[in-house]
Amino acid sequence: MKVLSLFFFLATIIATCQGAPHHHNPGFDCLSWRLAVETNNMRHWSVVPQACVSYVGHYMLGYQYRKDVQAVADLAYNFAKTAPLPRDLRTNLWIFDVADTVLSNLPYYAQPDVAFGGTPYNSTKFAIWEQKGISPAVPGILDLYKKVQSLGFKIVFISGRSESLREVTTKNLKNLGFTTWEKLILKQTSDAGTSSQIYKEKKRSELLAKGFYRIVGNVGDQWSDLVGEHVGIRTFKVPNPMYYIS
Ligand SMILES: *[C@@H]1O[C@H](CO)[C@@H](O)[C@H](O)[C@H]1NC(C)=O
Repeated sequence: MKVLSLFFFLATIIATCQGAPHHHNPGFDCLSWRLAVETNNMRHWSVVPQACVSYVGHYMLGYQYRKDVQAVADLAYNFAKTAPLPRDLRTNLWIFDVADTVLSNLPYYAQPDVAFGGTPYNSTKFAIWEQKGISPAVPGILDLYKKVQSLGFKIVFISGRSESLREVTTKNLKNLGFTTWEKLILKQTSDAGTSSQIYKEKKRSELLAKGFYRIVGNVGDQWSDLVGEHVGIRTFKVPNPMYYIS
């Protein structure tokens, strides 16, 4: 009799624990939401759900984001070290996106009225931030940049920023220790009006057109950096639960 009641007691605890919502919002879980975002199951979302603003803020400012980016950097470096590359005359490239892959916009997104992506995108306000050129580095990625360079890869940055930001972007990168690169590709006026995915696909095609380059690795915080044509031998997704760019 005693054993039986202990069993029911434990069974009740286990059932309660498994059913407990993490965020006191039945039917909506912010970790599930973030996972859906990171796996590209969730697409074309415009703002972080109100219920997850605080969750995303804690994630981005806390240890987990740093550990998650470091894990991506470690995996990318392990691949770079062992990538089976044909011996030919082509130059092996490692591609990086810029915003929130190498240059962090976290100080911008942490502002109360931006709320980690919980309020609609304000292009005017964001342009003022970009002009300042004071982004910190995304943790772990500067180290990856240096390590892949030491393995002999040439770096190409493909950014959705406009050509008018070349000087400020160059200064910001160099100040942080991103000292050299093969190319910093920025948006031309002729690139206007296409999605980021199409724009980046076009830039990668142009890189490959002359036959001098091979894209080996490709690192980005948006799936639009990493899907489509000529993405490279392997892609690496840096976490970003603050915004979505198609
Ligand atoms: C966007 O940002 C600008 C500059 O900070 C501000 O003046 C404007 O009111 C903002 N627009 C909206 C819709 O919040």
